[in-house]
Amino acid sequence: MERDDYIIGPDDRILITGATGFIGPRLVESVLDRGFRNLLCFARPSSELARLEAVASRRGVGARVEVVKGNLLSPEDCATATKDVAVIFHLAVGGGAKSFPDAFMNSVVTTRNLLEASLRHQCLRRFVSISSFAVYTNTQKPRRRLLDESCPVEKRPELRGDAYCFAKAKQDEIVTEYGKRFGIPYVIVRPGYVYGPGHEGITNRVGIGTFGVFLHLGGSNTIPFTYVDNCAEAIVLAGLKKGAEGEVFNVVDDDLPSSRRFLRLYKRNVRHFTSIYVPHVVSYTLCWLWEKYSNWSEGQLPPVFNRRTWHAYWRKTRYSNEKVKARLGWAPKVPTTEGLKRYFQSCLERGQHA
Ligand SMILES: NC(=O)c1ccc[n+]([C@@H]2O[C@H](COP(=O)([O-])OP(=O)(O)OC[C@H]3O[C@@H](n4cnc5c(N)ncnc54)[C@H](OP(=O)(O)O)[C@@H]3O)[C@@H](O)[C@H]2O)c1
Repeated sequence: MERDDYIIGPDDRILITGATGFIGPRLVESVLDRGFRNLLCFARPSSELARLEAVASRRGVGARVEVVKGNLLSPEDCATATKDVAVIFHLAVGGGAKSFPDAFMNSVVTTRNLLEASLRHQCLRRFVSISSFAVYTNTQKPRRRLLDESCPVEKRPELRGDAYCFAKAKQDEIVTEYGKRFGIPYVIVRPGYVYGPGHEGITNRVGIGTFGVFLHLGGSNTIPFTYVDNCAEAIVLAGLKKGAEGEVFNVVDDDLPSSRRFLRLYKRNVRHFTSIYVPHVVSYTLCWLWEKYSNWSEGQLPPVFNRRTWHAYWRKTRYSNEKVKARLGWAPKVPTTEGLKRYFQSCLERGQHA
């Protein structure tokens, strides 16, 4: 890609939040590979820096990767970190997926603090906010089974009973709002399920093991995987490429496996375990019964399974990456067969179980 295709020059300052997480170090690597030399990575005092430092140590001559310590919950720390910054890659996210307060604080309040701080400095050229497929309702889609950027998102995310979905939907709202009201140039990136070494669990889109036996819920559904390096690359392009302001980009790889195929490969390559296939009509009915009982018992049963959850995670769906390819010139560099091979190898080495 030519230099002219980018909104900033190689010495403009780039801030990366969540740089110590799963995707963050890959993103830092990808930004450095493109010749950008002025990177600031936000980390908490307690963050594990080893992976980030390993990436930073491989940087080319003249490139700087600084680490600024703080907490995005602090407006002052956000003000310090955003000074003179041209592009923000905002990857930080609350870790407590089950806790609404944690998810809200570390995804929504942190995002608002960053946006407020950027407003004060008036030098931001683009705010890249990382959202998720979790925000889509996966109902009333204009093109039947196909999920793309034109599909409706949850208007009442609190009814999903899923703190992560709630926080991500609110984060999208706040970013869009700041874009409209204050003219902050933003891009929203929504990856599917990001997999690779460092993230070895089995996505609940395939099934869940919480009831003592692994319930296989995906069946013939396609799983919206994106390999971590491919996903990082798409986020980088969304932050740097001209003409993407105000856009949403979904990110999934090509040649996606079905849930059944993935499970077969996992058992063959990592370890064998017993799984019971639950047909879609049965999983839908169970979600519906769970929702009814949870409502009737006024929360005696946490409302984690309901029809909204079923639609979002287990309804048969096809996924599109046409927009991210056409508008950002992205293509997954790591093919799915290779990505899965690396992921299974990592599962074996780290001894992960379903
Ligand atoms: N992984 C996926 O499958 C997936 C799918 C779709 C979308 N996404 C989105 O992609 C982004 C990156 O995901 P990830 O899997 O790389 O996340 P992750 O591994 O959970 O890392 C989260 C990062 O956020 C930081 N963080 C959390 N609260 C913070 C705070 N208050 N102040 C400063 N830093 C804070 C963490 O710092 P510490 O190191 O100190 O904990 C960590 O670096 C997230 O926005 C996520 O929602 C991920």
